[in-house]
Amino acid sequence: MTIKKVAVVGSGYMGGGIAQVLALGGAQVVLGDVSGSVAEENLERLLKQGKAFAEAGLFPEDAYARLSANLTAAASIEEAVEGVEYVTEAVFESLDVKRDVLGRVSAAASAETIIGTNTSAIPIGELAKFVSHPERFLGVHWMNPAPFIPSVELIASEHTLPAHVDTLEALIRAVGKVPARVADTPGFVANRLQFALYKEAVMVVEEGLATPEQVDLVVSNAFGFRLALFGPFAIGDMAGLDVYASSYKTLAGTYGDRLAAPKALQDLVDAGNYGLKAGHGFLDIDPEKRAELLAYRDKAYAALSKLRAELGPAPGLVS
Ligand SMILES: NC(=O)c1ccc[n+]([C@@H]2O[C@H](COP(=O)([O-])OP(=O)(O)OC[C@H]3O[C@@H](n4cnc5c(N)ncnc54)[C@H](O)[C@@H]3O)[C@@H](O)[C@H]2O)c1
Repeated sequence: MTIKKVAVVGSGYMGGGIAQVLALGGAQVVLGDVSGSVAEENLERLLKQGKAFAEAGLFPEDAYARLSANLTAAASIEEAVEGVEYVTEAVFESLDVKRDVLGRVSAAASAETIIGTNTSAIPIGELAKFVSHPERFLGVHWMNPAPFIPSVELIASEHTLPAHVDTLEALIRAVGKVPARVADTPGFVANRLQFALYKEAVMVVEEGLATPEQVDLVVSNAFGFRLALFGPFAIGDMAGLDVYASSYKTLAGTYGDRLAAPKALQDLVDAGNYGLKAGHGFLDIDPEKRAELLAYRDKAYAALSKLRAELGPAPGLVS
């Protein structure tokens, strides 16, 4: 199925950004919200913002014309979902509100309409209980701010028809985003990792080891700098898994099992697999590409440093 007509139910911050991306990508997008007037107000906001983004060079020059042609507001949720191939739900992160809205959406939409939720952390299997024909329901988790962050997590529940995940993957790619299929657990992948880091950062501050400003300086200029270009597995394979395993040994001496080497890492190291420098790592990187990859890394880091210098310090933050 190719998706050409979409309803965004919950046209607030995330729903609005999602609607802009889909409309710029050529889909006809109908906004639904608590009332027709709220949907209308959000439509006006999205058009105005789209124009400002285009003037700032963040959206294509013709963004206002494309958004005006492709975005409309509906008087109700029921009207919004009529005749669309896909509904994306982005209402408040509350089980009660989502129960009500997903119930109304699935009652009003055709049984073939695919329904996606932008929940940040609620398991899709939990929300699937509120959807009739749950085989057409999945998580489609965009990141904030939706117009500018590439990743969209796709989460199937045990009921989701695989063909629907394929359809959504094609749509997400077609609008220039980067889909990743992940399992249905609380927080999925992005928020589980993000919240693990955030908790550890708060603990560093609580323990008096560094101020929040110093933590941010270290993160954004050290491993967070690398994360702008690579994931943790690519970084680990390039750094050397033996180095990681030894570091965990030291950390475990103070922090115990919480920061001991994970078994899969230790197994690789015990088998002589240190990543790029010996054997293999978590990723299957072609050893013949080693020099090329490291040269790319250095070039990318230098380019990122240059970009940051051009952008200048983030207003109001220590840099
Ligand atoms: N803000 C983020 O950083 C972020 C990131 C990723 C995912 N999310 C998820 O996206 C979803 C929306 O978050 P947000 O930050 O855009 O919230 P928001 O408050 O900006 O928008 C929510 C929208 O839902 C509408 N709404 C509320 N109840 C409704 C109802 N009964 N019927 C129809 N519309 C209703 C509101 O009027 C509002 O327009 C949540 O599930 C949230 O967890 C948020």
